[in-house]
Formats: sequence, C-alpha cells, structure tokens
Amino acid sequence: MDHFHFQAGALHCENVPVAKIAETVGTPAYIYSKATFLHHYRAVHDAFAALDPLICYSIKSCGNLSICNLLKSAGAGFDIVSGGELARAQAIGADMSQIVFAGVGKSDEEIEQAIDAGVGWFNVESEAEMENLITISRRKRVRTRAALRVNPDVDPRTHRYTSTGKKESKFGVDLERGRRFFDAYGRDAAVHLCGIHLHIGSPVNDIAPYVGAITKGIDLIDALRADGFDIDTIDIGGGFGAHYRDTEAPPAVRYAEAIVPLLKDKRLKVIMEPGRSIAANAGILLTRTLYLKQSGDRDFLIVDAGMNDLLRPALYEAYHFAWPVAPRAGFVPKDRASAAQLPGLKLMDIVGPVCESGDFLAKDRMLPPMQRGDLVAVYSAGAYGMSMASHYNSRPNPPEVLVDGDDFRVIRRRETYDDLMAAERL
Ligand code: LLP
Repeated sequence: MDHFHFQAGALHCENVPVAKIAETVGTPAYIYSKATFLHHYRAVHDAFAALDPLICYSIKSCGNLSICNLLKSAGAGFDIVSGGELARAQAIGADMSQIVFAGVGKSDEEIEQAIDAGVGWFNVESEAEMENLITISRRKRVRTRAALRVNPDVDPRTHRYTSTGKKESKFGVDLERGRRFFDAYGRDAAVHLCGIHLHIGSPVNDIAPYVGAITKGIDLIDALRADGFDIDTIDIGGGFGAHYRDTEAPPAVRYAEAIVPLLKDKRLKVIMEPGRSIAANAGILLTRTLYLKQSGDRDFLIVDAGMNDLLRPALYEAYHFAWPVAPRAGFVPKDRASAAQLPGLKLMDIVGPVCESGDFLAKDRMLPPMQRGDLVAVYSAGAYGMSMASHYNSRPNPPEVLVDGDDFRVIRRRETYDDLMAAERL
C-alpha cells in the first residue's frame, strides 16, 4: 500500500527516517515515496493489461515536475485540465499525443496552446465548446481529435463536491443528448469526434458506479456505431480510491475484474485517468507541534501546517490519518485501524496556525501523549495536497521531497517571502 513504516520506533519513508528530512528541509514539508508512486502506477497498469490502456496520470492530483517525469518514465500519458498543466507536461517533454485535455471551461488561448502542442484528445464538455473547438481548428487548419464527455447519471456515493457524473453536475452532456451531439458534430472535417469520455467522481470506492457508467457508455457507442459513426476510443476517467482511514480502497485488480470484461473485444482504445489512486498514499505532510492548548473541554495540538498547506479536511471534512513520527514507547501503531485503540491515548484536534475555525488537519483523534516540538505525519496527502495549497495568510508553500531508497532530494524548494510577493507591484 505504501512505503511509510515504523522502524525502530521511528517513521521512515522507504529507508529514510522522516525526522532526518525535517532536519534538512524544516517543516511543514511534503514527503513522497518514489517506490509507492511506481507501485500504484504498476498496479493499475498490470490489473488492466488485458485492455492495453493508455494510462493518463491526472496532473491535478500531484503535478510536481519530478513526479510527472517519474510517471512519464514509467510509461504514463497525462490528463490535463488547464494551460498550466499543459505547460508542466511540455516542461518534462511528455509525448503530446498521449495527452487528454478535459475541463468545462477551456479558454480560446488554452485551446490554441493545446492544438499547437498537438495534444491527443480534447474531451469536450458542451455544444458551445465543440463549436469553439471547430472554429479554432478550422482557423488553424489542423484536424483535432475529440471525445464527448457524457454524464451517465450514476451516483458515485462520494462527497457532493467531488461527484461529477450526476445529471445535475456541470460536467459533460446528458447521455440522451449524446446521439444528437454526434448528429450535429460527428461528421465535422476539422474535429474528428471519435470517442466518449466518462468521469463519475472521486474517490469512488464502489465498483458498481463504474459498471453502471461504462455499461451506459458502451450502449451509447453501440448506438452511435449503428448510426454510422466511427467510434474508436473510450476514456473511463479516474476516481479510483486510495487508503485514508485504513485499507478501505479496493485494489486496482478489483476494479479491473469488473471493468475489463465490459470493454474487452469492443474494438476500443481505452484511456484511464487515475490521479489519487497513484499519488495519495505516496505522500505525507510532515508538520511540527508548536503548542498544546486546552479550550473549553477540547484539547488542541497546534502544528505548523494549516489549511493553506492541506485543504482537504477544511473543504471536504476529509479524513487523513495522523500520528507522531517518533511516538513514545508503547505508542507505535501496528496499523491505522487499531492505532486509536491503544491504551493511554487522549482525544485531540490537530489544528493549524491559520485564522479560521475550519483550519484543522484532524478532528476528534485519539493521540499519544505529545509535547511541543514533536513531529506529526499527516498520511495519504500525496494527492490534492500540494496541488491545492494556497498562500492564505501569506504563508509560503512548503517544500516537496522525493525519497528513493536510502536517498532523498528536494523536488520543490520551500518558498520565500520574496516568492510570495514576486508577481506584485508597489
Ligand atoms: N479525470 C477527470 C476528468 C477529473 O476531473 C479528475 C479529478 C480525474 C480524472 C482524477 O481523479 P482521481 O483519480 O484523482 O480521483 N480535490 C478533490 C478531488 C477532485 C477531483 C477532480 N477531478 C479531493 O481532494 O478529493
């Protein structure tokens, strides 16, 4: 599942004690395990091998150039959602033909930038966007390739902010409009509309919503083929689960068991867009205890990372397991699930320095005795951690460190106050 483990009472990332990284780069800091990234990428690759899919790593989950480069070397293409993510892919010399460009609000500049770069597919989300893509492609005299994002109206049973495949969502077009969409645009000379795209939400720990969505997608493809359209691609999106509380996410093989039979022998190029399932468990946010404080009947552990560093708890009330990096004797956890059962724990909230009550990293947690200076690891922070970090309260972004066996290196330095103000004019 990951390469963060306790050895001689101290948390290690692969073979490196995380306390040693704190000594070098300070806190807060994101720490990633190369082996864990590769493990999760290969798990998807191997589980779906029968489909020989193009695995487009979703840059938005963790877009550091070194991480993208690592996954490029492993064979990944990329899922992008902005000109900025395209620039990241270009910066690492990614193969542009292996890139899918999604998003409900692509600007003209972003579309032009992507056409010039030669991205593989535009995942088109509306009639208006399709018309714009046609106009720009004609003007540039380039034949672009597109897939229609359809909204299969399935419930992924995840947080309402990260559910994307229900009827009322802003993403894609209703399934019923799919045939009309192809009637209108499916024979255009400038944009080759050759596939459909589905992405139902994130994280989706149930397999049934995928089966429901893909089945509906295949039915649409069959109908479109019967209408004479040449459909050669299905992009099934991302959204596969990761472990936050314990080991709750189905492994890639469980998804594959249900999904592969639906797509095999359909004469379709299969694209997948996993982000979280590759990145989440590959990273922790390392933070240091500043103060302990009691307020009313609550105990607070005030640490030096806040909602600007890791927004997920504040935004989605997301759960991230958190534990001291060098627990006192008797408090080394066997696993996440049983950690809260150890005798002698105390109920606490882990909160940051930001001036908002929503600034917490972990609420109502049973934690070992703690003191000022103790390091705490916030787990499963590799996906949508650093990529959603902000400068709120004028807090510079933390560094990112990549561990590889016995070594580690800084893959993004800590920001300075000058960085914070670099784009501003007096
Ligand atoms: N494809 C599309 C079109 C997407 O919109 C997304 C994520 C993905 C792929 C990758 O999904 P993944 O495999 O990483 O679950 N900030 C939220 C998650 C938002 C996901 C947005 N779209 C969070 O922290 O949970």
